[in-house]
Formats: sequence, C-alpha cells, structure tokens
Amino acid sequence: MIIEAWSRVRCGIAPADRLLNFTVVKNTFFVTTAIDYTNGAPHLGHAYEKVLADVLARYHRLKGEEVFFLTGVDQHGQKVQQSAEKQGVAPQEFVNGVTAQFRSLWEKLDVRYDQWAATTDDRHKQCVRAILQRLWDDKDPRTGASRWIYKDSRGGYYSVRQEQFLTDKERGPDGQFGPEWGQVEFREEENYYFRLEGSRQWLLDLIDARSRAGNPLVLPDFRVAELRNAVEKLAGDLCISRPKARLSWGIEFPFDADFVTYVWFDALVNYISFAPGYDPAVGADLAEFHGWWPALHVIGKDILIPAHGVYWPIMLRALGFSDEQIPTLLVHGWWNIGGEKMSKSQGNSVDPDVLADRYGAEALRYYLMTDIATGRDADFSEERLVQRYNSELAKNLGNLLNRTLNMAQKYQGGTLKAPAAGTDAGGLRAASEAAIQAVADGLKTDQVQAIAGAILAFSSHANGAIEAAAPWKLAKDPGAADALNGILYGLVESLRIIAILISPFVPDAAHGILDQLNWKTEHGHGNERFRLADTGWGGLPEGHQVSAPVPLFPQLEVQKAE
Ligand code: MSP
Repeated sequence: MIIEAWSRVRCGIAPADRLLNFTVVKNTFFVTTAIDYTNGAPHLGHAYEKVLADVLARYHRLKGEEVFFLTGVDQHGQKVQQSAEKQGVAPQEFVNGVTAQFRSLWEKLDVRYDQWAATTDDRHKQCVRAILQRLWDDKDPRTGASRWIYKDSRGGYYSVRQEQFLTDKERGPDGQFGPEWGQVEFREEENYYFRLEGSRQWLLDLIDARSRAGNPLVLPDFRVAELRNAVEKLAGDLCISRPKARLSWGIEFPFDADFVTYVWFDALVNYISFAPGYDPAVGADLAEFHGWWPALHVIGKDILIPAHGVYWPIMLRALGFSDEQIPTLLVHGWWNIGGEKMSKSQGNSVDPDVLADRYGAEALRYYLMTDIATGRDADFSEERLVQRYNSELAKNLGNLLNRTLNMAQKYQGGTLKAPAAGTDAGGLRAASEAAIQAVADGLKTDQVQAIAGAILAFSSHANGAIEAAAPWKLAKDPGAADALNGILYGLVESLRIIAILISPFVPDAAHGILDQLNWKTEHGHGNERFRLADTGWGGLPEGHQVSAPVPLFPQLEVQKAE
C-alpha cells in the first residue's frame, strides 16, 4: 500500500497531502552534482565539481555507508539548439557527441558515479511530464484552478536574432538595447507560470529553522545570508514553458503540446527522476527512495540563486516533500583565470583532458581538491599543479614510502617485527589518531582541502620520525633491536593508514602503496579494500612481509604547450 502510494508521488500524481512522513534510519549517502550543459566541451570547473563529489562519495564508502552518486548532463534548451544549428546537425546528435566527451572525461578522471542522468532519457522525460501534470491537476477547490501553475500572456522586448526576451539588464548605459541584439521588437507571448511568491515566507522560515537547528540549508554557511536576502526580494513567478514556435528542443508539456518545458524546470527534476527507488516502467519503491533521500546537492555558486536555492525547494514543496526532505546544498566556488571565472563563453577555459594526459589523472584530482577551499574561489595555475604534486606526493609521501620499504628490506629482510608493548615509536600512533580525527572533522563540513592537509601532515610527521630515530644507526647497534623494530613497524603501519585515508583523492596511488606493503584484506582488491574500519593501529601482524619499493610518484615538470 505504502509502496503504491509512493509510486504515485514519485510520478508526481499523488495529492500533495499524501506526504511521506516517516523516519528512515539510514546508513546511506546520496550525493549529486549539477548536470552540465551540453553546448560545449567540459572544462576544468566541471571537472572540479565532479571530482569533489567523487571524493566525498569515496569517503562515505570508506566509512562503510551505502553510497549513491548521481551526475550527468543537461541536454535541452535554447543554447543547445543554437549550437546544434550552427553545426548543421540535429540537436540530439549534437548532444550525443558532447555527452560522450563528458562521459569519457569522467572515466579518465576515475569519477565513479552510480547513475548517469541525461535529460533526454525517456525515464526523465516521463517524470518531468508527470510532475507537470500533477501540479496542473492539483486544483484549488474554491477556484477550480491549479494551485501551482497558471497560463498568462505577458509582453516584453524580444531579440529576433538571439531569440530571447530581454530584460533591463541587457540595456546599455544609454538605456537602449545594443547592436548585438539585432532587431528588437515588442512581443506578447502566452506561457505557463509556476507560483513562487506564495512560498516566500515558507522558504524564509525553512532557511532560519535549518540554521537554528545547526543543519543549514546551504553549506558553507556564509552563503545562507546571501540566499536569505534573495528570497526576501523574491518577486514574481517562474515562467516554466517556451512556445514550440520559438524553441522546440525541450520536453513537451503534457497538457499543452504547443509548449516545451523551460530548461531549469526540466533539469532540476533529474535529482529525483534518476534517484534510486524510482523507475517509471516498474513503479517506484517508497521505502527504497526514502532510504536515500534527501540528497546532498553539490553545485557552483552561480546556480545557487535562484535555481537551487529558490525554485528547487519550492518545486519539492509543491510536490509534497516535507521540510525535512528539502536537500542541503553544498556550494563550491569558481576556478578563475587571472581573477576571471573560467568558462566556455569567456574563451578562457582550461581543458581537463589535456591536463590529465600531461600530468596524470591523479595529479589533476589531487590539485583540484587541494588548491581551493570548498566554497571559495581559486586561480588556476599549472605551475602550482606541478609544484603541489612534486612537494606533497612525490617528495613527502613518495619518499616516505621509498625510504621505509628500503630500510625494511635492508635491515630486516622485509619482515616486520611487532614493537614492544606500550611503545609508540616516533609518536606515529598518536599522529595517526590525530589524522583520522581530522579526516572525520573535515568530512563534517566537506572541507576536502583540510582533510588532505591533515593526511600530508601525518606523512611529514613520519618523515620527521625517520630523521629523529635514524634507523641506519639503530641497525648498527645490537642493543637497539626493539627501537629498530618499533620505528620500522610504525612507519609501515603509518603508510598503510595513510594509503586508506588518502585513497579518495588518489585511488590508484593508494592501491599502489597497499600493494607494495603487501597488505591484503578480506574485502578484496577493488576499492572495497579501503575501509576506515581498518585504520586502527596495529593492523599489520607480526612477521608481515613487505615488498621492495617501486617509485609511485615520478617528479613532474611543467609542460606548457607552445
Ligand atoms: N546545466 C546547469 C545546471 C543544472 S543542475 C540541475 C549549469 N550547467 S553548467 O555547465 O553551466 O555548470 C555546471 C556546473 O559547473 C555548475 O555547478 C557550475 O557552477 C560549475 N562551474 C562552471 N564553471 C565553473 C568554474 N569556472 N569553476 C567551478 N565550477 C564552475 O549550470
């Protein structure tokens, strides 16, 4: 019965008051990203967001949670239609080509998503249409009209060349529309509108209540005030249709075939149309969906207001989602070039594919996660990419691995001996516990830069411990066997823990470290081999045999194209 009710809500056809009010105890993590426009090739900003979500997903898997990571592409809309026309191909053919570029980039960067969201997918189209129908059918008993959607005719200035309505923002300093707009004429147009204004107070209250409860709607929480101000100023409703006469590349309205759906109303729905527990063909499973929802939406700061911070919560409210079911938004900053936002239209975009080929996918992943603080902007620099990799991975962690395994081979034939009870050679165990705690703290606020910093600090500490203990001297002193055992065991154990902790950033290298340590788990050799539960000190048994070192992080050099 419950499942049946849910399937109707998921398709958007259950009445709003049939709400999904039950608590599900979860050990799940549902993370989504913005879906990228397919009007051009991916750039570094797109790659950053997907790697960020991937790293978070991997940390939650590491914690033993069940993870569902959704990403994809936004394939409809005017820009796509225009780009396809320019190339003289059909829009679907055009988006297929660009979509393939995105997918192959995620494969190259090891972005391990669980579900691909492409908005031309039938599953998605059906969901958008069902939602529109549901909102249209949700009638006010007094007036008999929909409570959420109405049709209206409005006039405005329209650029024939750009095929879009212009607003005052498009006027030049002289108050006129510039020549770039070509012929501009006044036009009346009928469209469908989604009611926003009536939810203004509800949204303000929600923002405040979530902040009071220590569970802000927007992370980092310095953006909450920005959203609140925007909601306070909210005026007017959202035009959610486009007449087919001027834009045909979109999802047709279910109750009026002369219109297609506005691209944002279509795109936002991906977060539920591709969520687990929903399959329009088979029906949705209420319990399954609720085991996952709400998602954490990872998005850039340019699409917080109004799309994710205003439209989306109100759309969910209209669909009958309760306040607790409104998702949290993790809002990241921009990668800039010389202070300017990197974007295709600015012509200053950096190609992540080229960078990955030049320096390796993991060097790029590591740079993107460590040279920017979550929520803030950063300036891209190829020199810094190389510098960070060389100093933090090659020199710091790479040297720790090489030196430790060399010494273990040289002084103990690769066989570890357990340290004397109650000792903590070089303070390595304490440093490991501090790093594990810092990872847990960083995860609470999704500060991946701080997490990487803590892991690298642990590695630096271990390098320092080598200098302080000087195993090469201990090896010559027959009375120092315990001290030698203790430091070598501690170093290998530190590396084992570092490999697990750092695996979300550089999974291949982490596998490489564990292979050289000869560390096997009953979880197998895939990514399941990384478990936070295995980071307890003392996981390596007495007599464990390590391999000889093989360099994992070759030094990089900046290779700028001519
Ligand atoms: N299609 C919409 C999103 C719909 S989500 C239901 C869109 N697409 S986009 O391709 O323009 O941007 C996709 C994501 O990339 C956004 O979160 C955006 O903030 C992010 N980035 C685009 N340029 C960026 C940088 N220069 N730096 C970091 N991320 C930026 O908006």
